[in-house]
Amino acid sequence: MSSDTATPLEDVAVRLRAARRVVALTGAGVSAESGVPTFRGSSGEGLWEKFRPEDLANPDAFARDPALVWRWYAWRRELVAGCRPNPAHDALAALERRVPEFLLVTQNVDGLHASAGSQRIAELHGSLWRTRCLGCGAIAEDRRVPLPELPPRCGCGGLLRPDIVWFGESLPEAELVRGFETAAVAEVVLVIGTSSIVYPAAAIPQHAARSGAFVVEINLEPTPLTPHAGAFLSGPAAVIVPQLVGGVS
Ligand code: OAD
Repeated sequence: MSSDTATPLEDVAVRLRAARRVVALTGAGVSAESGVPTFRGSSGEGLWEKFRPEDLANPDAFARDPALVWRWYAWRRELVAGCRPNPAHDALAALERRVPEFLLVTQNVDGLHASAGSQRIAELHGSLWRTRCLGCGAIAEDRRVPLPELPPRCGCGGLLRPDIVWFGESLPEAELVRGFETAAVAEVVLVIGTSSIVYPAAAIPQHAARSGAFVVEINLEPTPLTPHAGAFLSGPAAVIVPQLVGGVS
């Protein structure tokens, strides 16, 4: 097909096929088709609809009412435990196997990228499946569903919190630097299923675009990143990402 009749998706697939350095930044939308509700713009969360993530995912809320915050995370853990990776997760794992220098930077805490087989992952916001003790500081994998008590306690007697980065807290420095630096030298940066409003993660593709990366946004709707993106592919991640990666051989 000649370039003047190629669709944007085909144009992007051609760039992706040629790229040796690729970064994918993912947000909650990449897990939507697995059945994990997004934080914003979703419905059907019942009891939790009246809470904004900013009001629960913060250290003050936890200090005030740890059981309430834990009930939200226990609900998310139970929900995600029943979810499987979708074709977008699978396609990103396949892309990693084909691209010489690939990094998956994710804001998601659900662990579904690893379940799909991705290995080069920078988790910016922590994991639903780890706890951190406020007493002894121990960080541990914890996949118990349901948890035996809310809030759960450490063997030392201290209160456990989710090992998740909350609003007002710093992101893990090494992961963040890795995300910024790798995206800045990437030829293609895919930004998939994120509202691009939570910083500093949202700054990664903007910085990469200024550094010369071709930024491709995949989302159901435009976001504040869209004017800075080289291409915007509208549609569900589980449809678009496999189409894009399927063009890479
Ligand atoms: P959001 O819930 O803010 O945004 C989800 C984005 O995905 C929106 O732009 C949707 O339009 C898009 N979307 C929904 N379904 C989609 C689909 N099937 N295919 C493609 N796109 C789809 O989620 P994040 O941007 O990840 O932080 O939110 C950023 C951070 O804010 C999260 O990591 C979380 C939250 O509070 C913490 O938990 C610390």
